[in-house]
Amino acid sequence: MRSIHIDLGKDSYDIHIEKGLLNQSGQYVRQLTEAERLAVITDDAVDALYGNQLQAALEQSGYEVHRIVFKAGEGSKNMTVLADLYQGLADAGITRSDAIITFGGGVPGDLGGLAAATYLRGIPFIQIPTTIIAQVDSSVGGKVAVDLPSGKNQAGAFYQPKGVLIDPELLTTLPLRFIHDGLGEVIKYGCIRDNHLFELLETLQDDTLSAHWEEIIECCCTIKARIVEHDVLDMGERMLLNFGHTIGHAIERCYGYGYYTHGEGVAAGMAMLTAVTEQKGLTAAGTTQRLDAVLQRYGLPVTVNAAMPQLLPYIAHDKKKRGNRLTLVIIPAIGTSELLSIEGDAIPDYIRKVDAQ
Ligand SMILES: NC(=O)c1ccc[n+]([C@@H]2O[C@H](COP(=O)([O-])OP(=O)(O)OC[C@H]3O[C@@H](n4cnc5c(N)ncnc54)[C@H](O)[C@@H]3O)[C@@H](O)[C@H]2O)c1
Ligand SMILES: [Zn+2]
Repeated sequence: MRSIHIDLGKDSYDIHIEKGLLNQSGQYVRQLTEAERLAVITDDAVDALYGNQLQAALEQSGYEVHRIVFKAGEGSKNMTVLADLYQGLADAGITRSDAIITFGGGVPGDLGGLAAATYLRGIPFIQIPTTIIAQVDSSVGGKVAVDLPSGKNQAGAFYQPKGVLIDPELLTTLPLRFIHDGLGEVIKYGCIRDNHLFELLETLQDDTLSAHWEEIIECCCTIKARIVEHDVLDMGERMLLNFGHTIGHAIERCYGYGYYTHGEGVAAGMAMLTAVTEQKGLTAAGTTQRLDAVLQRYGLPVTVNAAMPQLLPYIAHDKKKRGNRLTLVIIPAIGTSELLSIEGDAIPDYIRKVDAQ
């Protein structure tokens, strides 16, 4: 068992990582809550694969379990489904002395987490993430949200779970494109903080990854935990987690959500930016070559075809823009990162390989 403590004062909690942990989840949940009833919030795909297994594990520890299931996909991360969840919780008789389990990828985690933060003015919740994105990123740090028609994650809260239970064995059913999607974020962690993790990824490939999931997830969650401890409300250091995201978000929006996955957008964003910072002498020589090679090893893009004029408006709208300045995350070398504030007008100078169409 690998465990990481995240120290947030009264909101502190542990992240446990172990293959097969799902079957013991009842015992762990027992240590985290006095609840008698648990509402499991999940999507229909995860429910079909693992819903019965989780319910059995929780019932073994004496819980009354209510499953609240919505349609899988980002399209469900909205106010309408959130309202359905509130009603489902009320119908199941969930009170403030009960608890919610969010079970699935980032969508059940973010949506169910926001339900937990607000139902009856907040009830305890525990994250059991089932995608790589969720196991290395979204289940840790307490950001919960839904999308609005005007943009992603526009209504939400900071609300920490009581614990995070990670079973990497659940990743065996995850389609390869979602594995690669998550690896975009894993490579990001290596770039910003952990040269050893980056080197490990340089030696693995799709069919050898699974033997290393526990180690990989532990590295990523430790980095995120340490950064969130210093900056829980995302006012400073937490911005380092956005490496590749300014250009990545623009790519996702420019092509329409779903064309490039989030991890693919971030991959191209990291590579396109680093090529330029290396040219400018802000990044050690040879870094771009290593970064491109590791991204391509896992089927991730290092550039996109959109012309600069197409991408620019999406970058200009990025949340991190302040006044006419934009804060970029750059890597002086693999394993280190820093913030760089640039003039808004200088943005085109920081993107490579965007060919005119
Ligand atoms: N809160 C945060 O800090 C944070 C961080 C990163 C991303 N996010 C959010 O996370 C979401 C993306 O996460 P995601 O990619 O996990 O999305 P997701 O929850 O939609 O999962 C992706 C797909 O994988 C399926 N799936 C989940 N687990 C599976 C398994 N073990 N086997 C087979 N299929 C499985 C799901 O049913 C779904 O169809 C976005 O909404 C994003 O905004 C939040
Ligand atoms: Zn991300």
